[in-house]
Amino acid sequence: MSEATSDEAIPQRSPALRGLVTSVIDGAPVTGGRTVPSTNPARLDEVVGQVSFGDASTFVRAAESAKKAQESWAAIPAPIRGRAIAHIGRLVEDNAEALARLVTAEIGKPYGEALGEVREIIDTCDFFLGEGRRLYGQTVPSEMPDKQLFTFRRPVGTVTVITAGNFPVAVPSWYIVPALLAGNTVVWKPAEYSAVSSAAFHELFVRGGGLPDGVFNVVHADGAATFSGLEQSLEAGLIDKVGFTGSSAVGREIGGLTGRCLQTACLELGGKNPLIITPSADLDLAVEGALFSGFGTAGQRCTSLGTVIVHESVHDRFVTRFNAAVAQAKVGNPTQDVLMGPMMDSKFADRYEEFLGWIQPHHTVQAAYGKITNDNPRDGFIGDPSTGLYYHPVVVDGVRPGDRIFMEETFGPIVGVTSYQSLNEAIELANAPGYGLSSSIYTTDPKDAFTFRDKISAGMVSINNSTSGAEAHLPFGGNGKSGNGSRQSGVWVLDQFTRWQAVNWDYSGRLQKAQMDIVELTPDTTFRL
Ligand code: UN1
Repeated sequence: MSEATSDEAIPQRSPALRGLVTSVIDGAPVTGGRTVPSTNPARLDEVVGQVSFGDASTFVRAAESAKKAQESWAAIPAPIRGRAIAHIGRLVEDNAEALARLVTAEIGKPYGEALGEVREIIDTCDFFLGEGRRLYGQTVPSEMPDKQLFTFRRPVGTVTVITAGNFPVAVPSWYIVPALLAGNTVVWKPAEYSAVSSAAFHELFVRGGGLPDGVFNVVHADGAATFSGLEQSLEAGLIDKVGFTGSSAVGREIGGLTGRCLQTACLELGGKNPLIITPSADLDLAVEGALFSGFGTAGQRCTSLGTVIVHESVHDRFVTRFNAAVAQAKVGNPTQDVLMGPMMDSKFADRYEEFLGWIQPHHTVQAAYGKITNDNPRDGFIGDPSTGLYYHPVVVDGVRPGDRIFMEETFGPIVGVTSYQSLNEAIELANAPGYGLSSSIYTTDPKDAFTFRDKISAGMVSINNSTSGAEAHLPFGGNGKSGNGSRQSGVWVLDQFTRWQAVNWDYSGRLQKAQMDIVELTPDTTFRL
């Protein structure tokens, strides 16, 4: 999975993607909007594609199209929809390298990781292709004779999916695959800076699944137009469910908007993911885990490591080894076998520079930080740093509660370190920022592992594994500022895209009143041995 590709191979786009990337509504491209280039963050002078942006009315039209197509999509038997998912998975697999190259070109994700990301779509399709033959409901006994109870799963209807660009194809599949499988139609608003990868994804899904027009619409638009289009669509009753992956701040807005329309959004938000190292931990393993989760994807995963919380007895040894590992890590051209490429987009690079401003005099940083340039070089850099948005990976020791670096998500290649004395204190520190997405403990003591599992606020817990890299068939999601309790992936996500319908069928030929017309057995309550 981690074999590198050559520069020349990027980007190999299908003929359909060579032109302008546009919104697609009811199977037809929507042209005429403002056009914005999507550039390669590793080579800023390379335009990966031109993207035509729609406005709020584009969004509303897409919602109307999805609404119109939903009934007939839901009428296609679920096993046949499952076959469509199977075919999508195979088509993605047959195009895996090309799609991964596109992801690398557009957001600078190292090619090995990009291939892993594409694999996550295939895994999701593999999981859900059989669900079309299940989508089980239940038969339930009634409290009365000649009466039968049942439950059925029904699609929610039309679904809006709004996703970030750090996983431009894997995370959308977590929503879109189960949503389609369950009989919903979709309006997808991908991130602006990963629009070309999204267009490839959309095309693979529509062609692979043989999806009828209107079943899967895509809208390219900026945040303000999307919000306004979504608001209008919700108020007009065109959208029945929203799935959103992005910042906690925008998640609150979407949660508020959907709440006013009596809906609960599926929110997958930020994280300040802790990694605890106990005195019994295998330190080399912990260093490896911290390196991958801190700096893989240049720290731009929602599951990226925020703060290492290390026992004071092993603090110095850990920090020395961690700094050495960070110094030796391969950083540079993402088409090569590197741990870390550039930031995804200038918007993230600019914001990351602000986070670097949170480093204070009481913190210890042992190496250079900030943008990698000829004046601020990095030993062993692979390629030419001046062509892209490359930053030094940085370890900030001595962070403490109250520091912004400790409390807030810092999307980028920066990891804080703090120390603790008792496990309870470590867990309090881990929970203090108020997020609750992913978490990790390195220990060889089962008591520590189970205490951590019991007390940590996070939705996802790793034991002797890093905070990132969740498998695609376990529930994915967070608590606190990381989400509203919704879970994606596996069977659990079906509760986001279906509603339970309770059915009772009385064939007694008379009105039997629940709780009233029931047979009572008489217990002998005075009996004693
Ligand atoms: C994200 O960053 O939004 O667990 C998702 C992981 C990946 C998914 C991350 N499988 O790190």
